[in-house]
Amino acid sequence: MQNFVFKNPTKLIFGKNTISSVAKEIPLSAKVMVTYGGGSIKRNGVYDAVMAALTNHNVIEFGGIEPNPKYETLMKAVELGKANNIDYLLAVGGGSTIDGTKFIAVALNFDEDDAWGLLTGEYNPVKYKTTPLATVLTLPATGSEMNCGAVISRISSEEKFAIHHPSNYPQFSILDPTVCFSLPKKQVANGLADTYCHVLEQYLTTTDNGRVCDRFAEGLLLNVIELAPQLMVTNDNYDLMADFMMSATMGLNGFIAMGATSDWATHMIGHELTALCKLDHGVTLSIVGPALMDVMRDAKRAKLLQYAERVWGIKDGSEDERIDKAIASTRELYESMGIKTHLSDYSIGQDIADEIVKRFRDRKLNIGENGIITPDLVAVILERAK
Ligand code: NZQ
Ligand code: ZN
Repeated sequence: MQNFVFKNPTKLIFGKNTISSVAKEIPLSAKVMVTYGGGSIKRNGVYDAVMAALTNHNVIEFGGIEPNPKYETLMKAVELGKANNIDYLLAVGGGSTIDGTKFIAVALNFDEDDAWGLLTGEYNPVKYKTTPLATVLTLPATGSEMNCGAVISRISSEEKFAIHHPSNYPQFSILDPTVCFSLPKKQVANGLADTYCHVLEQYLTTTDNGRVCDRFAEGLLLNVIELAPQLMVTNDNYDLMADFMMSATMGLNGFIAMGATSDWATHMIGHELTALCKLDHGVTLSIVGPALMDVMRDAKRAKLLQYAERVWGIKDGSEDERIDKAIASTRELYESMGIKTHLSDYSIGQDIADEIVKRFRDRKLNIGENGIITPDLVAVILERAK
């Protein structure tokens, strides 16, 4: 186990009929901007519940944050927020709305020319203040409701980069599983795949992570495997949705990363696929993940064997046969939810693979745990994902 410091200040408010608590959690003196996406919250009653709770607050709103939130759109929110001296942000939606709002929280306090530089490394975001933010989560997937990361896309350059700021942990997050009953099956599948992959990114590395986090991680993986077929049949069962919400939040709030080595290469390659081909985030992970496990099987051998045995109950056969079965089972999990797992299923060809590898080469970037995945290995992974 590596040395670590753990701090997660987000207050979780979990359960039915909890949206009304935004009223007492946000100071009455605050000038609040409520942010949201393309309108799902207006159709499922969440918008009305939030606005009813904020009747006595000073509130403006900014809607229209897209899936894979766009820098260009977010800068309009920054302009509106600055013009209205906003000092509190309430994101109501999925990971995209929350991530977009985290970016707004930094950009509101940034006065240089081009805030995109906060994403590219030109400016260190941590040097800037943030505006306090909170969330009402409507889609379990990203863990953004209880972490300090955000991923932002730029249309003009077809890029997608992450930003982290320790002050961007939400002050509080409201998780009411009933608001997720309106989710389309596709988004439930994407969210389950994302959750599963987050856990793998923090688990499937070396075997020195420590027993506690290993068992936490295996518990979350087993939970997703158990929930997936049931949620594909019905997504309006409270207990199932509550367990899914908990799994997604616990999968990326730092709990299972304590003392662990993380990978995140599946995500980094996946972000490029979204940036270039507009694939949903969960879909990109389902394509890249199994291929990456296959290509990196020697570096990850001990952990892959542990994963095979403890998560999938695979005990028989040679080491490579057990690893093959574990990879096949992972792929089947994604496909059982209707997510296709090969690049060719989405008509993505060699030109895109070449562009992705070029981007990593140009950035002189090795990825994965301890930087073990070179651009050449990214090429092999994308070849294996065909
Ligand atoms: O925009 P609206 O109209 O709200 O509709 C959304 C959107 O179309 C809809 N939706 C959300 N809640 C709903 C609902 N529809 C019906 N009922 C509800 N209750 O679902 C669609 C997708 O929403 P989005 O927020 O894009 O999905 P998700 O939560 O999967 O977020 C994906 C984004 O998060 C980033 C991804 O890269 C991607 O940009 N990630 C953020 C992370 C983080 N901050 O830690 C980590 C993740 O790995 C991920 O990278
Ligand atoms: Zn993810």
